[in-house]
Amino acid sequence: MENKGKKIIFSGIQPSGNLHLGNYIGAINQWVVMQEESSEKELIFCVVDLHAITVYQSSAVLKEKILEVAALYLACGIDPKKSKIFVQSENPDHSYLAWIFDCLTPMGWMNRMTQFKDKSAKQKESTSVGLFNYPALMAADILLYDTDYVPVGEDQTQHVELTCDIAARFNRLYGENFKLPKTIIDRKAARIMSLQNPLTKMSKSDENQDGVINLLDAKDDIAKKIKKAVTDSGREIVYEQDKPAISNLLVIYSKLSGREINSIEEEYRLKSYADFKNDLAELMVDVLSPVQDKYREIRQDAGYLGKVLDEGREFAVKKSSVKVANVRRAMGLGRI
Ligand code: TYM
Repeated sequence: MENKGKKIIFSGIQPSGNLHLGNYIGAINQWVVMQEESSEKELIFCVVDLHAITVYQSSAVLKEKILEVAALYLACGIDPKKSKIFVQSENPDHSYLAWIFDCLTPMGWMNRMTQFKDKSAKQKESTSVGLFNYPALMAADILLYDTDYVPVGEDQTQHVELTCDIAARFNRLYGENFKLPKTIIDRKAARIMSLQNPLTKMSKSDENQDGVINLLDAKDDIAKKIKKAVTDSGREIVYEQDKPAISNLLVIYSKLSGREINSIEEEYRLKSYADFKNDLAELMVDVLSPVQDKYREIRQDAGYLGKVLDEGREFAVKKSSVKVANVRRAMGLGRI
């Protein structure tokens, strides 16, 4: 399909745990940068609660986490005057289109998804069918809005590629209805690693929370986690493939400060790991404190957050209902 007018940007985060530094650097920070660029665009950010329930969530916790994630989007700099924020389950078109995609997607395509392999290995017998079909729901999220760009971390690139395959298959079978989106990745920031094991990515579900900096962690906890972060052999503060731990910390430092890695390496050439870690902890607190203050302010004003999410939902439903009507017409569904 031709791209006419404004470019559309869509992304989302699951309200399935605490938002962490990986989500911030890999995703939200990119969203804010795109929001502030001058070109004509429409930005849509979703709290993907239907994705979260592919693994059991207690209802009380889920309810709270949905508001927490939405408020954190705002606190990190998503501006509702420039971007839309809504909750996925409040627009039923997502699950409607996901079912259609389930019927169009060969099992073999889903079987290739590495994230399913990793997650189902942990879930074992209790792995849900929803976890297997999860990428079809993600394809629905993206394709409902004629999305051009999907800014995400590296772990989501395979899902966006599958989204393009599903869109192309639909277009082949039923005519051109879907635009094929592109992934936007900040290559250096796309995979922030655990502070305890720099060979695994920082993750909401990590059992060792010492490896994960949550956006709402207390200052002291942030400092403790940085102090405890594992380091590599040797003492040099340099970005190198065989030094995954210090390289990860350097990426984090660079992304939080906006400085190039080689200028940071130069500054710490004659300094110790302890000096570097102290400064990194201080920098992190400087970046996260205002986010936390803003977050608390937003959570105290339930009316404001409710209004932002209501407006987001209205926008989303209006836009997606046109797409769903076209899809039904193209497929011969119902009496449309
Ligand atoms: P989720 O909730 O696991 O993660 C949200 C975003 O954070 C990025 N991310 C990371 N980036 C760098 N380093 C890390 N350690 C790290 N951990 C997470 C993820 O890549 C993601 O961008 N399926 C998606 C949510 C989703 C979605 C969508 C995204 C549903 N529908 C449509 C984009 C478009 C997910 O589970 O993300």
